[in-house]
Amino acid sequence: MGCQGQLAMHAAPIPLTARRNGPLAGRARVPGDKSISIRALLLGALAVGETRIAGMLEGEDVLHTAGALRALGAHIARTGERRWQVHGVGVGGFAEPRDALDFGNSGTGCRLTLGTVAGCPITATFDGDASLRSRPMRRVLDPLERMGARALASAEGRLPLTLAGARDPVPIVFKPPVPSAQLKSATLLAGLSAPGETVVIEAGATRNHTEKMLTYFGADVQVDRLDDGGRRITLVGQPELAPRPIMVPADPSSAAFPLVAALVVPRSEVVLPGVMMNPLRTGLLTTLGEMGAAIDALERRNEGGEQVADLRVRAATLRGVEVPASRAPAMIDEYPILAVAAAFAEGVTVMRGLKELRVKESDRLAATAALLRANGVTAEIEGDDLVVQGSGRPAGGGVVTTHMDHRIAMAAIVLGFASERPVQIDDGRFIATSFPGFVDLMRSLGAELS
Ligand code: S3P
Repeated sequence: MGCQGQLAMHAAPIPLTARRNGPLAGRARVPGDKSISIRALLLGALAVGETRIAGMLEGEDVLHTAGALRALGAHIARTGERRWQVHGVGVGGFAEPRDALDFGNSGTGCRLTLGTVAGCPITATFDGDASLRSRPMRRVLDPLERMGARALASAEGRLPLTLAGARDPVPIVFKPPVPSAQLKSATLLAGLSAPGETVVIEAGATRNHTEKMLTYFGADVQVDRLDDGGRRITLVGQPELAPRPIMVPADPSSAAFPLVAALVVPRSEVVLPGVMMNPLRTGLLTTLGEMGAAIDALERRNEGGEQVADLRVRAATLRGVEVPASRAPAMIDEYPILAVAAAFAEGVTVMRGLKELRVKESDRLAATAALLRANGVTAEIEGDDLVVQGSGRPAGGGVVTTHMDHRIAMAAIVLGFASERPVQIDDGRFIATSFPGFVDLMRSLGAELS
């Protein structure tokens, strides 16, 4: 599984240091999309028959989700390099697990499985690592309890918690209190077991992989665009899901790291093939374009139901911009690396409406500001906004605390590839949750990382 897979096995933290080297050059494929890999396992587990997945992300979050689905009765096997096979149990067919389900660091795996278990007449205990235990689950439990599931959890609904699925789930109309694909997906997955229509009305459109994959597996899902930019998703319950082959495209949220590295390391030119271009995931590309980045989307094509392109990126001089809050759902995981790009830009970058970053794998708003400040960059949190003063070339020289957060770790490393002095992170192990092989891939492009 490469370098990062092994890093994750270590009990002790693994510090990493990134320093300036020559230009980055070459072609490198980043791993498969995390959101799609997790959904492929889940829908495969709910389909009757065999689902074959190619290009699977073999990261820790996906492996933990696979382990949980096995404990719930699905047969899941790795048949080759990034090739997996799932024999599902049918909608509502999960078996009661003997032990607590361990989702490690994976919020998506945990929340989507909560939704699925809510529609089965079984009881299961959900747990994860210290980061996942600190994240809010009440927001997911609320709709699931309205559908008839019962949760044994603290008022805040933190892990570990026990969920008793509904014997006779009822369909609901749910308006998520925050824009969240995980909340939407958990409700739709529970709705699979309910008779009639489960409806999710989201104020701002979030990633639509669950809706698309449900349709692909034969469920009746209708998506209506609302005048205010939101969407109404209507799922007809109790479908028979038919297994379909899945090809997982390269993850745009992982591509973001070598992409920004190539932008800020002088004279670089890098090609990242097969990156998913789903418009609900490309907010970072829009923003970097406004900042003056030179990114070409070549060979646009359709792969496995998603648009993909080969991204060619060249080093560029960036300028500060204002990023509207309305763009946040389309780039929610990309703010740490955007903040690093902003540190290399000329002028101020204002990123608005980042409240949700406070409840990611870490308090990402605070961790991003701290990572910049530790390296001589002026960064302020003003309410829910992050304001970064670009300086052309940050000083670096800092030691960054990563708080069990893969994206903070990778963002800090990218800063170190182009700052005056090296950047150290306290722990590289969590990079393997989403981007196994990150260290090897960056080195293959010419980066210096020890
Ligand atoms: C994800 C949704 C997002 C994102 C996460 C993956 C998904 O979370 O941050 O990394 O696959 O549905 P929210 O739905 O909580 O915003």
